[in-house]
Amino acid sequence: MDRQQRVAAGRYLVTGGAGFIGSNFVRHIRRTFPEAQVTVLDKLTYAGNPANLAEFEGTPGYRFVRGDIADRDLVAEIVAGGFDWILNFAAETHVDRSIGDPGEFVITDVYGVHVLLEAVRAHGVGRFVQISTDEVYGEILGDPVDERAPLMPRNPYAASKAGGDRLAYAYHTTYDLPVVITRCANNYGPYQYPEKLISLFATNALDDERLPVYGSGKNRRDWIHVQDHVEALVALLLADGVDGEVFNIGAGNEKDVLAIAGHILAALEKPETLIAHVVDRPGHDRRYAVDFSKLTARTGWQPRMPFAEGILETVRWYQEHGPWWRPLKSGEFLEFYRRNYKFLDAAAEGGEGS
Ligand SMILES: NC(=O)c1ccc[n+]([C@@H]2O[C@H](COP(=O)([O-])OP(=O)(O)OC[C@H]3O[C@@H](n4cnc5c(N)ncnc54)[C@H](O)[C@@H]3O)[C@@H](O)[C@H]2O)c1
Repeated sequence: MDRQQRVAAGRYLVTGGAGFIGSNFVRHIRRTFPEAQVTVLDKLTYAGNPANLAEFEGTPGYRFVRGDIADRDLVAEIVAGGFDWILNFAAETHVDRSIGDPGEFVITDVYGVHVLLEAVRAHGVGRFVQISTDEVYGEILGDPVDERAPLMPRNPYAASKAGGDRLAYAYHTTYDLPVVITRCANNYGPYQYPEKLISLFATNALDDERLPVYGSGKNRRDWIHVQDHVEALVALLLADGVDGEVFNIGAGNEKDVLAIAGHILAALEKPETLIAHVVDRPGHDRRYAVDFSKLTARTGWQPRMPFAEGILETVRWYQEHGPWWRPLKSGEFLEFYRRNYKFLDAAAEGGEGS
């Protein structure tokens, strides 16, 4: 099989496939390449949701395995089955949670990557894609950075991801594994666990709950629609001569938190009085900005979704999928929410839930 055929009809192992980006990737592969075989390995942490993949259960060429990427025996057994593509989305992903409890982040985002790479060393793969993040660069206040910029992660999530990122690179240089590393900007879109900025704000606004804005609300991120991200990953699978390389993925949609809140409130015709400032996150990076021209030059990929359209579509999705997110905003989520956000407005003291 040539590369194109292996993308269209090959065997995929998608770790963390029950999460936000992983499930959008699986959906894209299943719809675009019906002959491809997809195995999902996911621990189903609080962020992993079988509902994200329910439509594929029992369909030919699809298999779900509940398990931990840090479980050596299980990972070795699965990887020994043989894959053309392994994409590692599995991670602890929420910066705020990493500040409260960094240990799980080191185990999954560093050690888990090592376990996967060891299995690949033993059994081989066509290409291993380590999904890293633009947060590994730390805050970027000047021009968008390219892939040669120093890694200066400033929170335990970003530092753990930097560990996994460099470990994957080391397995390429040391053992010649076919590894590609991607560093993507902030994603938004359907199926995002409602603790992340856009899904939290959209679902809070739908319930007329406050939108908790850290500090000044001036922290800036580049926002990419998840569909653009998954298409970038497919472009990298199709590309020759990229093993051992790092690719930034972005969209050039730089917005601060207050602007995001404004877009969401406007889309839902809700008042700006729902914006509520909360005590800032410790070590809150003011801005991330990556130069993704290398990816475009090497693959032809470009982001397609204009932010104004993507945010409207996303807000509508949460509006129409209450049965998906409402059950998630209960129990442990509410405990985390109350612990995490300290509203500056005394009237909200006592921790308003959502
Ligand atoms: N969301 C973003 O904006 C963004 C941006 C850049 C990079 N990334 C990276 O993309 C990947 C996916 O992010 P996401 O937003 O979809 O995250 P998510 O939190 O929605 O999903 C993570 C998934 O990984 C699973 N998981 C966690 N620990 C595991 C373990 N030990 N073994 C197996 N499965 C485990 C969870 O159950 C969940 O299904 C992560 O690696 C993240 O660092 C995310």
